[in-house]
Amino acid sequence: MKAIQKTYSTKARNFLHGGDYFPEQWLHLPQYLQEDIKLMQVAHTNTFSIGMFAWSRLEPQEGVYDFEWLDEVIDRIHSFGGNVLLATPSGAKPAWMAKKYPEIRRINTRREQELQGRRHNHCLTSPVYREKVQMINRKLAERYQNHPAILMWHISNEYSGECHCHLCQQAFRNWVKVRYENNLEAVNQAWWTTFWSHRYSDWDEIESPSELGENETHGLILDWQRFVTDQTIDFYKNEIEPLRELTPDISITTNFMADTEDLIPFQALNYSEFAKHVDLISWDAYPAWHSDSQTDKELAVKVGFIDDLYRSLKQKPFYIMESTPSLVNWHEVNKAKRPGMHLLSSMQHVAHGSDSIMYFQWRKSRGASEKLHGSVVDHDNNTENRVFKDVQEVGHYLEKMREIVGTNRKAEVAFIYDWENQWAMKTIQGYSQESLRYPQTTQEHYRRFWERDIPVDVLNVNQDFSDYKLVVVPMLYLMKESFMEKLSTYIEAGGTVVMTYISGVVNENDLVYLGGWHEKLQSVFGLDISETDTYYPSDNNSVNYQGKNYVVKDYATILKDVSGDILGTYVADFYQDTPAVVRNQQGTGTSYYIGARMESEFQDDFYDHLIETLHLRAPVQSTHGKNVSVQVRQAPDADYVFIMNFGTAEETVDFEGKMIDVVTEEEVEKSLSLDAYGVRVLKKFK
Ligand code: GAL
Repeated sequence: MKAIQKTYSTKARNFLHGGDYFPEQWLHLPQYLQEDIKLMQVAHTNTFSIGMFAWSRLEPQEGVYDFEWLDEVIDRIHSFGGNVLLATPSGAKPAWMAKKYPEIRRINTRREQELQGRRHNHCLTSPVYREKVQMINRKLAERYQNHPAILMWHISNEYSGECHCHLCQQAFRNWVKVRYENNLEAVNQAWWTTFWSHRYSDWDEIESPSELGENETHGLILDWQRFVTDQTIDFYKNEIEPLRELTPDISITTNFMADTEDLIPFQALNYSEFAKHVDLISWDAYPAWHSDSQTDKELAVKVGFIDDLYRSLKQKPFYIMESTPSLVNWHEVNKAKRPGMHLLSSMQHVAHGSDSIMYFQWRKSRGASEKLHGSVVDHDNNTENRVFKDVQEVGHYLEKMREIVGTNRKAEVAFIYDWENQWAMKTIQGYSQESLRYPQTTQEHYRRFWERDIPVDVLNVNQDFSDYKLVVVPMLYLMKESFMEKLSTYIEAGGTVVMTYISGVVNENDLVYLGGWHEKLQSVFGLDISETDTYYPSDNNSVNYQGKNYVVKDYATILKDVSGDILGTYVADFYQDTPAVVRNQQGTGTSYYIGARMESEFQDDFYDHLIETLHLRAPVQSTHGKNVSVQVRQAPDADYVFIMNFGTAEETVDFEGKMIDVVTEEEVEKSLSLDAYGVRVLKKFK
């Protein structure tokens, strides 16, 4: 069991509440700046990220700096006790720079160079850009290093993307040389280049993946993605050098993202690597509530999963760096949050470990692409509108909840989520790209624990899971031998592991293990794998598990040499009556192998059984309907209990004993009812 950490992530020990503030858009209308300072206090906000897209105002011409407007804004925020998250401006380069130094403009996979425009599109390698970034960052650090309003550095904005210019190609070749210890033959082996005669005879022949060139050499693509992560981190390390030097006591974060279409973890960068280099994790959350494609409860499960994943990166509270107080402008349909949803969705992040609720953006822009994106202050400048009041309400809650800042969560269940695995799955030419859905499958297994209010940590393959009671490993197609070793040691020592179909197929170079399923996995799970069958939606089969039939969807693994206990068998097809679910004992531990993807009822029954067997418990026991989630943060003397209704009907929640409402200070005993999208934050003394 993990120890509870009491970590204080803010100077002030308050929840951060505020958002991205772009005063540089309003310098010609100074009355708005004055108004903002007033409204920030009316809104119960206290923290503002400033400067992230301000480079063309901070350095309007090369070497000519203008910080006076920023001085004034920071001073004014300080004057009412507010905090500043000072952002570095590298996410959007000024036009003069792009014109004078074309090498800083990205080259895409088709080897076309971008024009100046948009943002997040600089070369990751260009020495000129790196130097310019260091210069402006040094200036910011020199000027504001002792300013008491500065709480933290906000580095750049949502790092993403890749560049294929000649500088990046050379950097990639150097990276490959280091990884393969200068041995080109090792590269040829690892990438299996003899296939279609793609062997390299010289380092200079290596080129990044492109639809015009190499796009099916899976090992190359996997290494390119590793390189892009490493090069982004390297760029970031260059950015923060002057900050670490001049402001060693100011913490550093950069805002991570989710891939928002389906709300899965961000794919393009390996955040488990990036996390090692930031002081605190923060992320930007934009779930599409009230959509046609899923219920709010289904979406809430996914949000909970990502919060738990990002919290687990450092096993510490994190920050929500951006969210919208109302709607965004880039979903397919940009729907307003229904009454109650803003407070509820904000409290959900806090329940899972966030010490902040921040917004994009403070004041709605007048022009350009985000002029219709939700913000705290609308074009009407009116504090009486619904959105402004919703923000005030969140601010009021957070002020009342101060004692929760820094408390963590304690979990006995670990899920494994691996970025490299997701990359390898993206390039698979096999199974069905449509139905692989690795992150979504992991979220579907997580769902049952969320519904049972059982806390989960979501770990990457390199983190230690030896203290957990249960480790769930869905679809770990790319599996290193060192991970198999770790699993085996964990089970020998009494742990319980669940693993699914399509796991342990390839090694870290995306090369398939030879000689059947890996012998380590064979002995841990008491079986070998013969074939994997991929289904059309119209295919019909089921698994009989413990006397009940469950519909099989998408994948069915055909097993052989099974020495473990057979818990489930296929009902039809040429593998009728053969094992589909197997339990095996090794040492004092137990493993379960789920060979087929099944309807969600299987996850319900399978995990319910395991939850009973392992005596897994919600930290605070309660009974409630299926749209309600009860999540807990723990302090040494109390549990903070967030009771949340993601449904549109009133819900009753029953529990034992008494709790105190942290916001109203009322005592609540045994039962409470929640309106549609209602939330209560309660304290239960230990
Ligand atoms: C974020 C970005 C912000 C803003 C926001 C709009 O991804 O960091 O700058 O564009 O989206 O939702």
